Amino acid sequence: MEILGVDLTLPLTLLAGFLLFVYIYGKWRFRLMKNAGIPGPEPDIYIGDLRRSIRDGFDLENKLGNQYGDVFGLWLGGLPMVNVLDPDILKEVLIKDFKTFSSRLTFELDDYPLSTNLFNAHGEAWRRLRNIISPTFSGVKLRRMCAGLNKCAGKLTDNFAAAAESGETVQVKTYFGAFSMDSIASTAFGIDTQSQNQLESSFITATKKVFENNIFENPMLFIALIFPSLQPLIAKLGFSSIPRASKKFFENTAKDMIKQRRSEPEEDQRHRGDFLQLILNAENDVTENGNNEQSHKKMSTDEMIGQAFVFFLAGYETTASTLQYVSYILATHPDVQQKLSEEIDSVLGGKEPDYDSIHNLVYMDQVVTETLRLYPVIADLQRYVSETTTIKGWTFPKGVYINVPVVQIQRNPDIYPEPLKFKPERWEKKSEMNPMYYLPFGQGPRQCVGMRLALVEVKIALARLLQRLQFVRLDDTPDILTEFKVLDVFAPKKPIELKVKFR
Ligand code: HEM
Repeated sequence: MEILGVDLTLPLTLLAGFLLFVYIYGKWRFRLMKNAGIPGPEPDIYIGDLRRSIRDGFDLENKLGNQYGDVFGLWLGGLPMVNVLDPDILKEVLIKDFKTFSSRLTFELDDYPLSTNLFNAHGEAWRRLRNIISPTFSGVKLRRMCAGLNKCAGKLTDNFAAAAESGETVQVKTYFGAFSMDSIASTAFGIDTQSQNQLESSFITATKKVFENNIFENPMLFIALIFPSLQPLIAKLGFSSIPRASKKFFENTAKDMIKQRRSEPEEDQRHRGDFLQLILNAENDVTENGNNEQSHKKMSTDEMIGQAFVFFLAGYETTASTLQYVSYILATHPDVQQKLSEEIDSVLGGKEPDYDSIHNLVYMDQVVTETLRLYPVIADLQRYVSETTTIKGWTFPKGVYINVPVVQIQRNPDIYPEPLKFKPERWEKKSEMNPMYYLPFGQGPRQCVGMRLALVEVKIALARLLQRLQFVRLDDTPDILTEFKVLDVFAPKKPIELKVKFR
């Protein structure tokens, strides 16, 4: 074929061949779930179901659940995700057959040493790290942390009180974020990040950048999602899933904290029962004993850096978002706010909350539980299928991920009648609820390791705030939040703004 005297036969043949290759490859690579008999929409041969996920956000799982039932497949770019709503299958995946489903979805890019963190870890490394870290959140340790948390909550209350005095409107997440950062830094590492004094501290800036770095901002992450098998190459080329400045900040901060603590007299270190000391002791256990049998307790310096990173990240975003949602609920449900304030007055009698007294705040527990039902901060849990496994007649092939759509489960009208209504009284008989229907902290051996700290922190903050203040909605505050970010934590598209008044 000739156009303007140029023979295009060869280029056109090559182009047609290339398009045919892309088509066949696209069909071939998306065959996994179909071959296993898992129903779901037909994926786009280039980007799977990514377009649908971006367009419909959290409604997509609902739509597909209605169409296909309790098990359906969805391609998140090149990643095969089997969505599961059935509680019996979930119990098997999250708890009973942990051996097969022990890892979660992670991007394997050039993130070392931050990538050594517990959230990302797999197999034996995960088990060892989890064994070392879990004791940080024992009852005895949490009891000791309450003094520090009260100090941070006092500052939080002062910040909100200043806004009440000036009458200004507040983006509540800013204050709660600073509080969460100060709380995790002081309780876990014994340092003061000054976040509540300068609301955009270097810690907050570095953390926010990590959360803002997504496939819309970073083309390498987009490619890594569409072609997961290219991740080792992308890593070799030096691309990280964490922005360079944040990576450097957390590495340097963790190194400084470790160096500073190691330089303290041993006697002083012995009195510190925080997370940093615990992981430093884990290192000492091995070097002091020179005993390989202790290796199950060992943590390298690089791993310490990884754990510090995940504590800052997890400690900041999740707790701040939860408090943001509770304050929004209180502002839009004055009857709930009134009842909660009365309970706080009657149980605490004007005193600071502590580890024992917060356990007597029964209504507070129901309010927080119901908030996390309606607005779970982490909207999906994932587990990697390491061996082809059949459960309840469904075959989950090796290499797919099980996706647990937490928002969809927690808003299912068959489980929670009138699911969009905020009803703390649902939780009067909490122990009777099937644990597979309430998953804001996940479930099983990989459940959130910081859950108990997070709940103590949230409750102390709320008690201190409501002893003096109340949250008030603005004229344009919606009755229910409907617009959320996509492919992110479960966060409102528009930051929540409220006013605060003295009681
Ligand atoms: C309200 C606050 C919080 C919420 C809603 C939350 C939620 C979650 C969820 C859903 C998971 C995944 C669980 C699973 O896959 O089954 C998780 C894991 C994790 N969370 Fe939290 N979290 C919160 C606070 C915290 C805090 C304060 C810390 C740190 C001190 C923390 C550290 C972690 C870590 C390290 C993991 C990984 C655990 C593992 O894989 O073994 N979280 N969290």
